[in-house]
Amino acid sequence: MEGGRVLTVLLLVLLLVGLAGSSPPPEPVVCAHGTSDCTVSNAYGSFPDRTVCHAANATFPRTEKELVAAVAVAVAAKRKVKVATKLSHSFPKLACPGGRDGTIISTERLNRVVSVDVAKGLMTVESGMVLRDLIEVAAEAGLALPHSPYWSGLTIGGLLATGAHGSSLKGKGGAVHEYVVGMRIVTPAPRSQGFAVVRQLCADHPDLDAAKVSLGVLGVVSQVTLALEPMFKRSVTFVTRNDSDMAEQAVVWGGLHEFGDMAWLPQQRNVIYRKDNRVAITSVGNDLNDYLALRSSSTADLISGRVMHELLLQQCLQHRAL
Ligand SMILES: Cc1cc2nc3c(=O)[nH]c(=O)nc-3n(C[C@H](O)[C@H](O)[C@H](O)COP(=O)(O)OP(=O)(O)OC[C@H]3O[C@@H](n4cnc5c(N)ncnc54)[C@H](O)[C@@H]3O)c2cc1C
Ligand SMILES: *[C@@H]1O[C@H](CO)[C@@H](O)[C@H](O)[C@H]1NC(C)=O
Ligand SMILES: *[C@@H]1O[C@H](CO)[C@@H](O)[C@H](O)[C@H]1NC(C)=O
Repeated sequence: MEGGRVLTVLLLVLLLVGLAGSSPPPEPVVCAHGTSDCTVSNAYGSFPDRTVCHAANATFPRTEKELVAAVAVAVAAKRKVKVATKLSHSFPKLACPGGRDGTIISTERLNRVVSVDVAKGLMTVESGMVLRDLIEVAAEAGLALPHSPYWSGLTIGGLLATGAHGSSLKGKGGAVHEYVVGMRIVTPAPRSQGFAVVRQLCADHPDLDAAKVSLGVLGVVSQVTLALEPMFKRSVTFVTRNDSDMAEQAVVWGGLHEFGDMAWLPQQRNVIYRKDNRVAITSVGNDLNDYLALRSSSTADLISGRVMHELLLQQCLQHRAL
């Protein structure tokens, strides 16, 4: 009995070691020869239509000057361009850069802080900067980005392009682009201007609202200036209730809690209400995040889940091979 169990566990472990190599997701931009013959995908390895985008070549500018040069070369040759990021976390591809004739411009190396003005609460960063790093640098200056998506593995350029948001009905709401007060964007230009120019959009520029959520089709965002707030903490508590009055509760809950949100679990007929409010930086919390999706699971459950997953995958692959 005991021996049989040990053997089963051993087999499961061997199966897992064999099948589930744990490696980070592949880089979204992969080139077969140096920076030529490239593909761009998302962090999941393929877009929802199970394809990747092809492009003739890719550039990885390190400065705004190099970015302008990259756009100019593409424009002069009438090539289509797609901006890719280091993380590529959007599911949809939106557009491919014109098959094997296009160019990928990656913001992977445009990831620096340009300036921080603590007195005015302003921070300017390059568009490839990862949200997690941005939040950390702001914190070192005693500043906070008041709203952000719930996942920090995104770039500021990528999350703005798709209008990414947190949750709030207060003030200007929970979308990050509401806190953008300046942008530098590189766009195509006539030959007389060298095929590419940097457009600087300040807070009062009429085009800033359009450029902020550009879906990546207006040019390459080089830098972003954000209006930050003095550092604060958030106090979060989850409350589970049934979903019978969910619709009426949406506005009520949003009015009660600055960062309130609701996660609906229709199969359980439940709603997880997130009580989420601003508190002073000196407040002491209990360091507990007991959100359902983040709770720990037993190793045995994880192993059996993974084994089931792999078996199903093998069956699918065999089926496809036939
Ligand atoms: C685990 C997870 C949790 C998430 N949570 C939330 C959430 O809470 N709220 C929410 O709103 N969203 C959320 N998202 C979605 C996420 O915010 C978007 O998919 C975001 O666009 C991804 O940013 P990225 O840096 O990976 O950009 P990418 O996916 O690489 O790019 C997105 C688009 O922007 C364009 N682009 C990128 N940089 C530039 C630039 N510098 N100039 C011009 N165009 C550019 C690209 O060409 C592409 O079309 C989540 C995603 C994941 C994976
Ligand atoms: C990309 O390829 C085209 C032609 O295939 C070439 O004209 C262009 O200079 C290349 N760009 C880079 C950055 O390599
Ligand atoms: C949902 O909860 C409320 C109390 O919060 C209760 O009055 C109601 O009967 C419950 N509805 C269902 C369907 O369980």
